[in-house]
Amino acid sequence: MRIIQTSDYQEMSRTAALLILNQLLEKPQAVIGLATGHTPSGLYREWVLARYSLGIAMNGLHFCHLDEYLGLDHTHPESMAAFLHQHLIQPLGIPAERVHYMPGLAADPEQACRDYEALIEQLGGIDLQILGIGQNGHIAFNEPGTPFHRQTHLARLSDSTRQANAHYFRSGQTPEYALTLGPATIMKARRILLLASGANKANAIQHMLEGPLDENCPATLLRFHPHVTLILDREAAAKLSPMTLHPAEYCHPAPLTVFYQGTVLFPERKRILVCAPHPDDASIGCGGTLSRLKAEGHELLFVSMTTGHRAEIPESSQEERIRLRQQEAEAEAALYDSQAVGLALEFYEHNYCPSSQDVARIRTLLQNYHPDLVFSASEADRHPAHRMSALLLNEALQQYVQTTGRSLQRWSYEGPWFLFARDDFNTVVELGHADLQLKLAGIQAHQSQIRRKRYDLAAEALARFRAITTPESRLSNFGTELQNLGEAIEIFQRVEIKPRGENENRTPP
Ligand code: F6R
Repeated sequence: MRIIQTSDYQEMSRTAALLILNQLLEKPQAVIGLATGHTPSGLYREWVLARYSLGIAMNGLHFCHLDEYLGLDHTHPESMAAFLHQHLIQPLGIPAERVHYMPGLAADPEQACRDYEALIEQLGGIDLQILGIGQNGHIAFNEPGTPFHRQTHLARLSDSTRQANAHYFRSGQTPEYALTLGPATIMKARRILLLASGANKANAIQHMLEGPLDENCPATLLRFHPHVTLILDREAAAKLSPMTLHPAEYCHPAPLTVFYQGTVLFPERKRILVCAPHPDDASIGCGGTLSRLKAEGHELLFVSMTTGHRAEIPESSQEERIRLRQQEAEAEAALYDSQAVGLALEFYEHNYCPSSQDVARIRTLLQNYHPDLVFSASEADRHPAHRMSALLLNEALQQYVQTTGRSLQRWSYEGPWFLFARDDFNTVVELGHADLQLKLAGIQAHQSQIRRKRYDLAAEALARFRAITTPESRLSNFGTELQNLGEAIEIFQRVEIKPRGENENRTPP
């Protein structure tokens, strides 16, 4: 997430307009989702000014609506659509066929919501969604408590939202219901731009960025989106810690560490949690290192974050696939004298939308096991199940270290869907022949997958490729002394996860 702090409302609005213009130059046919309300009004003013002063054509764009009051159609002067028409659509001269308002007067509002969701799909999805945030953390009209996996739906507005918006209505009464894009719909937008201005948004912004993932603050979900830009003015950002605002100043990457064969990884016995997004990812990602850790006598516990039932296994029911994959995970874990736990996280059933329930499941496991070291996929992994598993694990780890005061290490591995770039890893583990053999046996324990795709061959090739290329690439530019490595290696990004505050002063160092 990118956070841009500006001094005031005007600077926030201008910065947002610049970002949007940049996006439009990249994709003149973009589909833009529009919010209404006080916050984006200044942005729309700057956007219109820029359109005329710079002479950039905007007529290739499509515009979608974020929410609309039930009972008001787009010609009603108090509708959200009328606001957008007046502030942006008409001044930009956008033809009516490119503006897709939500039908606030629909006879069957739930059906209208499903149709709107389908319309967005037909348009190719939203490229950029503009959002504000409510004082209670709502985004669009997803009020506190809305499940994150909800799509476009009819929402009942909270009393506080109705009060905050009452001044837009001559009657002083905000309608009780609205059609709104759901949290899951918003998460499908390719990019999100959220603006917040004023002291009355400071609590919501703080909770959004520093609180736990929580359906009672819908904006916390946006932390799980890969491309969010947040533009805040000084007042809205006032409650954030310096570490949130300037993370780079607190991030001190650990130096490159190489565990050559014959050296000890950890002299004291460790409890090691091996997290795999799907049941077969652990050996693929780190099986050789696990072999070395087993030989050193550490305790290992294998955890599969999802059931993995979506993998194709011919002529099998979902239940059979879940059972089979769990059995294979147990066979794999037994090779390392370990056991396999299946968490069956729900995001896998909900189109990769997380929930606080998922975080709670992982946290319970952490609280029961108290690991010293955790292996996992990377948050930068492009596979949605890998990425979401890593993000949820990270959320649970942050909560765990915060509540227990313990620190631990997390080692992220690479795999078939995600390879580290040269500077992304800081840990190298050299594998002996027996380590490579155990890694391959661990992968082959998942026969249902190996029959489909030879992940063992892919993982072996990667481990051998890394052993050849890693010393070369490091030597050529950094002068880092790396002895030649054996036949195969695994590489990791190692980070220390500490309770917040240990590393953090109120002013950056
Ligand atoms: C508006 C919307 C709302 C607002 C939020 C903040 O389309 O969906 O979520 O963004 O209520 O409103 P303002 O900007 O008026 O403070």
